[in-house]
Amino acid sequence: MNILEEINIKGFVDEPIDPTLDLFEEIERLKKEKNAVILAHYYQEPDIQDIADYIGDSLGLSQQAAKTDADIIVFAGVHFMAETAKILSPSKTVLLPDVKAGCSLSDSCPPHLFAKFKEKYPDHLVITYVNCTAELKALSDIVCTSSNAVQIVESLPKDQKIIFGPDKNLGAYVIKKTGRDMVLWNGACMVHEIFSEQRIVKLKERHPNARFIAHPECEDVVLKMADYVGSTTGLLKYTVDNPAKEFIVATESGIIHQMEKANPDKVFIPAPPNNACACNDCPHMKRNTLEKLYLCLKNELPEVTVPMNVIEKARKPIERMLEISERLGL
Ligand code: 13P
Ligand code: SF4
Repeated sequence: MNILEEINIKGFVDEPIDPTLDLFEEIERLKKEKNAVILAHYYQEPDIQDIADYIGDSLGLSQQAAKTDADIIVFAGVHFMAETAKILSPSKTVLLPDVKAGCSLSDSCPPHLFAKFKEKYPDHLVITYVNCTAELKALSDIVCTSSNAVQIVESLPKDQKIIFGPDKNLGAYVIKKTGRDMVLWNGACMVHEIFSEQRIVKLKERHPNARFIAHPECEDVVLKMADYVGSTTGLLKYTVDNPAKEFIVATESGIIHQMEKANPDKVFIPAPPNNACACNDCPHMKRNTLEKLYLCLKNELPEVTVPMNVIEKARKPIERMLEISERLGL
């Protein structure tokens, strides 16, 4: 099997690694040698977060990808994030440690079906959450993330008709916050839909002083109970700014690593899923490992590419989001 066939099947180059190698040192060395930067999402495993040059939420990562002067971007996250980096920096090599790191939310909105859906609402503006494919972004007018969705919708005229996709939960949250009547695509994230209302109620009773914080990809029944709703960066900031000593966290478990680092004297409890066998890990985010990150930097594979005609169309709605965010100081 050649290297490209192997990537096609496994998602990464499966090469033996010398067990005596210090992967942290090797990654640092390769980064300097190749002028590479590592951008990591908060949902990555702790070792990856610790070696990254920048850790952030989807908005922060897009902003970094747009302004980096590195030759290589290693994107420790999922496929749609690496695609967004490629769209914003097409001349750079964008690598993803495991190219099969996908996203259930992105998968819930196939572009050909969304194009048909969009045809039914010809006078609507299309806002898409960044958690979607490059092809879907190319069908959009503005992209948003969980940290700016409310402000982006509010920046539009009140009578503007809007289609919002693919996340129905974030869409419903934005409708509630802005009072706008948007047409929603029926998509969702498998991690954020797993939380159990009943078990959260019981957990809150056992920890009456804990603050309950949630990501807006969660369902409305969960968000209704939250003391604070925000993007991963927003949630992290809240745990620093709020004097409470205990927090129940309804989002992917990876963010707890940064919460503990930023607040060594505070306790973070993952919100319970509705099935005792389930956990709050995103199986897509967690496909990346330190070993795969090392191999991808060493081999400069797997690389994420986007056809130039898609880049040209998808770039505008992402840049529109970045411009609005900059104007609003987000
Ligand atoms: P944010 O990083 O924007 O909070 O999004 C969370 C997420 O689900 C990324 O896949
Ligand atoms: Fe996609 Fe959900 Fe995983 Fe984020 S946490 S990458 S939205 S499946």
